[in-house]
Amino acid sequence: MTSDPLLALRPWESPEVTSWGRLPMNAVDRRSGVLPLDGDWCFQLLPAPDAPVGGAWSTAYVPGVWTLQDTDDLPQYTNVRMPYAEFPPLSPAYRNPTGVYERTVDIPADWAGRRIVLQVGAAESVLLVHVDGRPVGISKDSHLAAEFDLTPVVRPGSPATLRLTVVKWSDASHIEDQDQWWHGGITRSVLLYATDPLHLADVTVRAAYSGELRVDCRVRDTGGALPDGWYVTGELDGDVLAQDAEFDRANVEDDRVSDFLGEARLHTVVGDVRTWNAETPELYDLTVRLHRADGTVADTSYQRIGFRDVEIVGRDLLVNGERVYIRGVNRHDFHPLTGRTVSYDDMRADLVLLKRFGFNAIRTAHYPNDPALYDLADELGFYVVDEADIESHDHAHEIADDPRYLNAFVDRVSRMVLRDKNHPSVIIWSLGNESDYGANHDAAAGWVRRHDPTRPIQYEGAAKLDWAATDDASDIACPMYAPLEDCVAHALSGEQTRPLIQCEYSHAMGNSNGTLADHWAAIESTPGLQGGFIWEFWDHGILQRVNDGRPVGRGGAGLYDNGVAAPGLRWAYGGDFGETIHDGAFIADGVVFPDRTPKPAMYEHREIAAPLRIECFRHEGIVLGNHQHFRGLDWLAGEWELSSADGPTLTAAAELPNLRPGETAVVPLPFEVPRDGGEVWLTLRVTTARDEAWAPRGTVVCLPQVRLREAVPVAGSPAVANRSASVEVDADGLLVHPLLTAAPTLSLWRAPTDNDELGGMALRWRTWGLDALVRKAVSVREDGGRVTVDAEYAGTLGVVRHRQVLTPVEGGIHVAEEAELPVEFDDVARVGSVFETMPGLDLLEWFGQGPWESYPDRSTGAPVGHHSLPVDELFTPYLRPQESGGRHGVRRFTLSAPDATGLAVTLDEPRQISVTRYRADDLTAVTHHDQLVPRSGCVVHLDAAHRGLGTASCGPDTSPSHLVAPGVHRWSWTLRAL
Ligand code: GAL
Ligand code: MG
Repeated sequence: MTSDPLLALRPWESPEVTSWGRLPMNAVDRRSGVLPLDGDWCFQLLPAPDAPVGGAWSTAYVPGVWTLQDTDDLPQYTNVRMPYAEFPPLSPAYRNPTGVYERTVDIPADWAGRRIVLQVGAAESVLLVHVDGRPVGISKDSHLAAEFDLTPVVRPGSPATLRLTVVKWSDASHIEDQDQWWHGGITRSVLLYATDPLHLADVTVRAAYSGELRVDCRVRDTGGALPDGWYVTGELDGDVLAQDAEFDRANVEDDRVSDFLGEARLHTVVGDVRTWNAETPELYDLTVRLHRADGTVADTSYQRIGFRDVEIVGRDLLVNGERVYIRGVNRHDFHPLTGRTVSYDDMRADLVLLKRFGFNAIRTAHYPNDPALYDLADELGFYVVDEADIESHDHAHEIADDPRYLNAFVDRVSRMVLRDKNHPSVIIWSLGNESDYGANHDAAAGWVRRHDPTRPIQYEGAAKLDWAATDDASDIACPMYAPLEDCVAHALSGEQTRPLIQCEYSHAMGNSNGTLADHWAAIESTPGLQGGFIWEFWDHGILQRVNDGRPVGRGGAGLYDNGVAAPGLRWAYGGDFGETIHDGAFIADGVVFPDRTPKPAMYEHREIAAPLRIECFRHEGIVLGNHQHFRGLDWLAGEWELSSADGPTLTAAAELPNLRPGETAVVPLPFEVPRDGGEVWLTLRVTTARDEAWAPRGTVVCLPQVRLREAVPVAGSPAVANRSASVEVDADGLLVHPLLTAAPTLSLWRAPTDNDELGGMALRWRTWGLDALVRKAVSVREDGGRVTVDAEYAGTLGVVRHRQVLTPVEGGIHVAEEAELPVEFDDVARVGSVFETMPGLDLLEWFGQGPWESYPDRSTGAPVGHHSLPVDELFTPYLRPQESGGRHGVRRFTLSAPDATGLAVTLDEPRQISVTRYRADDLTAVTHHDQLVPRSGCVVHLDAAHRGLGTASCGPDTSPSHLVAPGVHRWSWTLRAL
């Protein structure tokens, strides 16, 4: 039995114990008197918290998780299930990795007489603090800082040995069961700071849209009673604020003595206030000073504040009176080298990227993020749903009403609110995620409603029971992955009582985010719908060495590029660290790769979020609309581009009208539309007109486009043009062509996407035998130079009849195809041709949608035009290889060698194509991108029909209009040599 009281208490299995000796959370921000303690600490990893310390010390870097440093306790990924069987509040008694961090610190001599505080930024999941062997405190909540007053246990001018013991598994793990990697360690910075004994204990700012500012200060003295005559002053962008006499008088009249209470208020009304919103995030610098009676300053706190209102009126969430759209994303604190430790620069890069792709909101899924994130959100302009660190997914029902966890719920929610209340970016508090709904939630909600009546609360688990309820813990109906039809129906039902903003939608796993444009078309046309948060920002792939399975860790900067890990490395997902209990690639479900390279879905989002749009083309010109809520168009510049199928692309500078939000105006067409020829498209290339905090001048903001003229329809099979250019087929009726290494055959299969797999489609397709159709030529006929090949493609459950009519034409071959799918094949991945080319044709140039990857239900953001990319850059390196690299709406393309030889394909109508180095089977044969071996030639798919991507890995499938139906499909194309 241990004699250490902290260990004897066994706090890791006592949910009632949320802390001991910990200072109250607050929002005071000091800039001096800080001693950073980041760096190497002495470290031991014990097998269990009550195992003796006494082995050899190694070192561990703080902040950081030991699971990505040199230990044998490696990361493990589970989604819902706990990684062990013990029921809450218990955890594995003998296998509970416990990190002991030790460091001897010289306490500055000039801290004599001061109050000395230790701050541990975050530790998971239980933190025990000792100084020189004496117990100091306990804290839980892996995503909030813990502060301890060390004044009584350290001596300025002398060394003190700090020991931070971090227990990995605990009662708290059961309410930190978020869908992410399990780690252990100290994930945010550790520091000491010193203040005067008379200090600011908290500062609460209320800054309203009207310009009214109220700053409530809580003043304390470690000695207990406050000295006489203290007072506070403030400065707002240089203007001096003084303690609010009215507030003091009211306190006195109330028989409350403000000095004793340690409360003071600054109050002012700022004239002509520059208000804050996500589009124009205007901030003011507020400095709060606590003075002693003689006027000297005892303590100072700095905040950047924003004046804004948030309210719910009827079923609308209003920011500054405006019903803003929430173009959100769920963001975890994540880094491929350091796990949950993220630097300021990394967070800034995250937010800059999000701004550039049209996002204006972040849900801090599923815990309070690093404090710097909120500063950045204030500065760059994001609406934040701040979420408490509560997810009891595996034992949700048991815990939501378990009184042993009541403390923890209220503690976690209230400490988040106390920490983040002064951020203008935070517009909504979230009680957590996927924890059922119980009295513990109501208790936490009650605390927030009283403490911060200025912001709404949301909690999916409460609102999901009845979106129209008015008496639960959520002010917002915030479902996850709700079918779009249900959302629209609710908004039209007349029953809606509160805003509907999906807390998660459009699951971004692998090649995904199909139908995103449908969501936004509905949101923008249905009062009551206001947006949602895409799941999620990150693919949480951890950089790993393939040879020994070890994580690369902190030293790996630069060992990846463009979404791909360097040779010998890979992005690890669930199971890659030898975990037996894991949930595989479900951890890779973000709109960016683990190195923050945007996936093609980001371009789709950017266009959907376009602040400036082409509404339509009328005789008198182009109608432009400002789709922002607060901002004019003066920050944008434009350039017109006219692309026609047959002519050169023309450009002209665009004069943007000065439109207020919601306004439209007609501008003249900048070009003469060519009289003859095929289709013509007009694109407005919109860029930043000047440097923004998140984008240098000239950064593309959106590329709205309108079609000015339609294509001329192509006639059916042409006459045989050229007797001398014959078509050669082999005995099986397969085309023999000098540029092709595999003749065009029918394809009904794609390497299943994650959506295809988890949505159950891939299983069906395999059952039908679509992955291994057996081709049999039925007849090969030649008629005046034209060859007709009839073939059957047999699956296990049906036979597809396929006809190819090969006609020699000027310079090449016209291929007309027809496939008849039996009714059994009522939903297939694609119907089209696949062929392979000789090596050396490494450049794709096309007229169609692009340049980035697009699919039938994710093609809004890919403008029609002339595009060109090296073949190796067409493929998107999704972590688990799958169908990728498609281009939608392609009319024609060439594949060429550097000497300009190669082939040209013209399609009968805009089609889905793909040109990659991989057959579908190459992609399905492996589990990670690094295992792929590119072929030297190209694998080319031309699809008559291609199934939408949908989001069925978690949520709705694609819409019925993007399914591939059985019956007859016809398509044709011409192949020519260049
Ligand atoms: C939600 C959950 C997220 C994540 C997502 C699927 O149910 O809130 O944490 O698990 O599904 O990727
Ligand atoms: Mg979950």
